[in-house]
Amino acid sequence: MAERDRWEATAARYHVLAPRLTVYRETNRRLVEWAGLAPGLRVVDLACGTGLTSAAIWAAEPRLAALYAVDFSPAMLRSARRRLADLPVRWVEADAADFARHLAEPVDRIVTNSAFWLFPPAAVAEGYRALVPGGSWVCNIPDQDFDFGDGNGSALRELVNRAVRRLPALGAAAVHDAPPQWSLQVVRERAEGCGFRVERHGVQAIRLTPQDILDFYRLPKFCRGRLPTGMPYRLGARLLRQALREAVPAQGVEWRWALFRLVRPR
Ligand SMILES: C[S@@+](CC[C@H](N)C(=O)[O-])C[C@H]1O[C@@H](n2cnc3c(N)ncnc32)[C@H](O)[C@@H]1O
Repeated sequence: MAERDRWEATAARYHVLAPRLTVYRETNRRLVEWAGLAPGLRVVDLACGTGLTSAAIWAAEPRLAALYAVDFSPAMLRSARRRLADLPVRWVEADAADFARHLAEPVDRIVTNSAFWLFPPAAVAEGYRALVPGGSWVCNIPDQDFDFGDGNGSALRELVNRAVRRLPALGAAAVHDAPPQWSLQVVRERAEGCGFRVERHGVQAIRLTPQDILDFYRLPKFCRGRLPTGMPYRLGARLLRQALREAVPAQGVEWRWALFRLVRPR
């Protein structure tokens, strides 16, 4: 299944579940703080999903000159339009690697919550093209995909690996232990290679409750990613849920996200 189709298949459930997941509430809140919004700015919500990031942007600054919401999944965009029917958002169906030509003007800010590391490499240069000189792009990467360089892996990934190991029916293929592909150095190389300056970086630690974790893996995109190839989805989803229920500690787990502000120099 292609990446876009996975998001298409996840949109309906994401629409319902994502608003109650701590992770999306907290990551959107922090990224919008980092974006430094102000009246009159033109902003792109790149990878808008079902509209949570645009809602957070608009709540923080309702006097923007323009807000474009971009996603490559029509089903995600339909949900976002429903959720934000009252807001003057300009909707764009496009891949992150090719979105700038769909905007009517260069923009001052790009906000990408929970998608940057999924983009094709060309998206970084495309973000640069979309921005005015002095404009900035805030984005984040979760610890399963990011090496913080402190020797600590992802607690969430370890938890899910522990859970699936306890349920042999899920099979060894459900265990993920490939090293993360991203680090501060990789972000710097890719961003600076396109002309950006990494103006700020940081860590956001989010405590997930046991319910957050169970709900998160009810999203088909993430659940399917933990099932062995060929296993029927409904069976796999039931097994994964059972395994997680047994393994999740009462205090939940901490999920770390790396945050970045990339600036297009003047
Ligand atoms: C986890 S959701 C995040 C949605 C939203 N930002 C939020 O915080 O709820 C990731 C979104 O990225 C979109 N996406 C992934 N890869 C993309 C790409 N190459 N171009 C455009 N959108 C993409 C998916 O369709 C999905 O809507």
